[in-house]
Amino acid sequence: MTQGSTGRFFVIEGIDGCGKSTQVERLVAQQGWLATREPGGTELGATIRGLILHGSEAPTPLAEALLMAADRAHQVATVIRPALESGTTVLCDRYAGSTVAYQGWGHQGDLDQISAINAIATGGLLPNRTILLDVPVDVALGRRGSDPDRLEALDTSFHERVRAGYLAQAAEDRDRWTVVDGTDSLAEVSAAVDRALGL
Ligand code: TYD
Repeated sequence: MTQGSTGRFFVIEGIDGCGKSTQVERLVAQQGWLATREPGGTELGATIRGLILHGSEAPTPLAEALLMAADRAHQVATVIRPALESGTTVLCDRYAGSTVAYQGWGHQGDLDQISAINAIATGGLLPNRTILLDVPVDVALGRRGSDPDRLEALDTSFHERVRAGYLAQAAEDRDRWTVVDGTDSLAEVSAAVDRALGL
């Protein structure tokens, strides 16, 4: 984080249908933090989100990673860093770990290239803590809505790779990532998330 910033930066990650949105809504209502999401947390980002998830032409995996990065670079510069610098705690629904998991592991892109793209997009801004809400793919599938976006509609093996990509990131960086079992009851998941965030 940049020198002089006082807000904390928290991120929630996981496969589609893991229950992130419920936790983000709860935490923001309880704590009054600033909630953001990727892709799509800014006006420009909402346009990028539409292009990636609902456009008529599927981007190549590299183009997809670069579009996610463009969304991230813009949101980090215009929303997240200014908020942190003014002392606001920010909770982001997805961040750089999603690009590693989806475009790296899911689409089997070049992980070094994705890491370089993430470094450019974030300018080195790392979350103080990332919560991985981990659920098996079949559980997540059962929770998803009936109108999947382009990535949600990909096959089970894609989502298995994404899940493995998340677990690998969490295992590599235990100082910054906490894995929470998302199959527990809502009360238990919420308590585990709160503990991980020091609440
Ligand atoms: P999300 O907002 O969690 O979906 P929903 O609104 O349906 O809950 O995420 C949108 C999709 O974008 C999700 O399938 C994951 C994908 N994604 C990536 O593939 N790479 C990224 O870097 C990010 C941030 C998201």
